Amino acid sequence: RHLIFLGAPGAGKGTQAQRLAQYLGLPHVSTGDMLRASVQSGSDIGRRAAAVMDSGALVSDDIIVGIVAERLTLEDAVAGVIFDGFPRTVYQAHALDQLLQDSGGVISAVLHIALDDEEIVVRLSGRRVCSGCGAIYHERYHPSLVTAVCDQCGGSLVQREDDQPDVIRKRLAVYQAETAPLIAYYHDRPAYHQIDGHGEADEVFARIVEAVREKD
Ligand code: AP5
Ligand code: ZN
Repeated sequence: RHLIFLGAPGAGKGTQAQRLAQYLGLPHVSTGDMLRASVQSGSDIGRRAAAVMDSGALVSDDIIVGIVAERLTLEDAVAGVIFDGFPRTVYQAHALDQLLQDSGGVISAVLHIALDDEEIVVRLSGRRVCSGCGAIYHERYHPSLVTAVCDQCGGSLVQREDDQPDVIRKRLAVYQAETAPLIAYYHDRPAYHQIDGHGEADEVFARIVEAVREKD
C-alpha cells in the first residue's frame, strides 16, 4: 500500500510526508531528497541533475523512474512507501501504475495538498532545511531556529539553491504545466483526497490523518 503526496512546490508535501511516515511507520520516499543526495555525493545522476534542479526544471523521466524502481526493490518498501514529489508528470504516473501492476502493489491514498500561490511564495522564500538530517524549518514559523541549529540532529540550517525568487516562479510554472495534469489523472479514483494546505502544520496533518483513516 503506497501513498502519494501531490501538490505545488511549497505546499507542505515534505513537512507532512515526514510526519505521516513516522505515524504510519512507512519509509518516506522523496525524489527531491534522493536527487539532492546524489548531487552531494557527486554521482553520475547527481552531476546530470544538479543544473536542471537549480534552474527549477524537471529532471528527465527516465532518471526518475529508474531511481524509484530501484528504491522499491529495497526490503523496507515491501509494506508500502510514502511518495513525496513523485510522480510529477503523467509519464511518471503511468510508469508507477505499471511498476505496481508488476509487483502487486496498490496506491491506497493520493493526498493532494492545495495551497494558494501567495502563501506558497511566503513558505518557500522562508524555508530552511537541515543539512544533516533534512528536517524542514521556516524562518517565520520557527524564528528561533534561523540562526541556531537543527533541534533533531544539531546540523546547520541552510537555504535550498532553488528557493530563490526567480527559481520559485519557474518551479510554479513547471508545476502548472507538467504536474497539475496529475490531479485529473487521479481525481476519479477512490484513493484521491484533496487536503486544504492552509493553517498550521498540525491542523493540516489532522486533515491528512482523517483522510487516510477513512481508507482503512
Ligand atoms: P522537490 O524537492 O520535490 O521540491 P518541490 O516539489 O518543489 O517541493 P518542495 O520541497 O519545494 O515543497 P514541499 O511541498 O515539500 O514543502 P515543504 O514541506 O518543504 O524537488 C526539487 C527538484 O528536484 C525539482 O524542481 C526537480 O528538478 C527535481 N525533482 C524532484 N522530483 C522529481 C520528479 N519526480 N521528476 C522530475 N524532477 C524531480 O514546506 C515549505 C515551507 O513551508 C517550509 O519552510 C515549511 O517549514 C513551511 N510549512 C510547511 N507547512 C506549513 C504550515 N502548515 N504552516 C506554515 N509553514 C509551513
Ligand atoms: Zn537535522
